[in-house]
Amino acid sequence: MQAVKIDQYGDESVLQLVEVPTPAPAPDEVLIRVCAASVNPIDWKIRDGAGARFGMQLPIFLGSEIAGVVARVGANVAEWRVGDAVYGTVKAGGYADYVLAKPAALAPKPAALDFAHAAAIPLAALTAWQALFGLADLRAGQRVLIAGAAGSVGALAVQLAKAKGAIVTGLASGGNEALVRGLGAAAFVDYTAQPFEDVVSGMDVVFDAVGGDTFERAFGCVKKGGTLVTAVAFPTPEQAAQHGIRAVRVASQPNREQLDQIGQLVAAGQLRARVAQVFPLAQVSAAQRLSKEGHSRGKIILQPGNGR
Ligand SMILES: NC(=O)c1ccc[n+]([C@@H]2O[C@H](COP(=O)([O-])OP(=O)(O)OC[C@H]3O[C@@H](n4cnc5c(N)ncnc54)[C@H](OP(=O)(O)O)[C@@H]3O)[C@@H](O)[C@H]2O)c1
Repeated sequence: MQAVKIDQYGDESVLQLVEVPTPAPAPDEVLIRVCAASVNPIDWKIRDGAGARFGMQLPIFLGSEIAGVVARVGANVAEWRVGDAVYGTVKAGGYADYVLAKPAALAPKPAALDFAHAAAIPLAALTAWQALFGLADLRAGQRVLIAGAAGSVGALAVQLAKAKGAIVTGLASGGNEALVRGLGAAAFVDYTAQPFEDVVSGMDVVFDAVGGDTFERAFGCVKKGGTLVTAVAFPTPEQAAQHGIRAVRVASQPNREQLDQIGQLVAAGQLRARVAQVFPLAQVSAAQRLSKEGHSRGKIILQPGNGR
């Protein structure tokens, strides 16, 4: 089968499409025939060198968010059968014809979605879910700012917060206003037109899916006692104390129960996935380049050939 690996850190030129044996599932694993794999910013961050900081060992097989069909089940796996259409997260190796997965990190693919749109959801939606409803305990009627509201994580966060009954302000560039309002934001701020912290204040919750300078400036938008949760930065207790707020980082974890609830929202039409572009696996460099530009409107998807 084909898979994408790196055996050194660097730019897109270190990405290699290689032929490797199809893995066999351990007793507590399933083998998935990958129909669509998402390109996430973490993938090119790992490739650029974050893998070393995370203590990962080369070679690294990239890709952690997939949709596909169960091809083999390990001897101890009771919940999946060959032929089941699934979506979920994997530890590594999603950019491939086949990948091994833990049964509890998968859920049935929402029937309304094709594989490309299904692959756009699990990691991004779990990140938003765990940030908003886990760490920030967002409630109906509360005010929430979503920074990066047009991105893969942010767009799902806007919809999840809206479905919960929160009052959402979306932060993105002006060209994305109609999109973000269409996802359920009651208010919109164009970060290219003005410093957002000049016009946003008193938020119960801020969810930062941008990082950097946006994260630093977001502290001033949270009301005293409120929560800033970031998917990108590393807040310190000192920063939080200085502003009289909680500041925490989400590190998304596989969660079958949450994925099932996310699937129900998809089925109810309350959660929509967006796909910006689909690339064949062989064009992984172009796909990662587009992701790294940081302004794609929806998820970038890789489509393996599975030997076809
Ligand atoms: N901690 C975790 O568990 C976890 C999990 C998943 C993702 N993440 C991280 O979360 C971040 C977002 O991931 P993603 O998949 O959503 O990325 P993405 O889809 O590539 O995000 C692109 C979006 O970012 C927006 N953006 C760029 N600069 C902005 C700014 N200054 N203010 C507001 N919006 C801005 C762009 O909107 P415009 O075009 O309008 O600028 C674009 O819509 C990444 O850093 C990723 O590594 C963390």
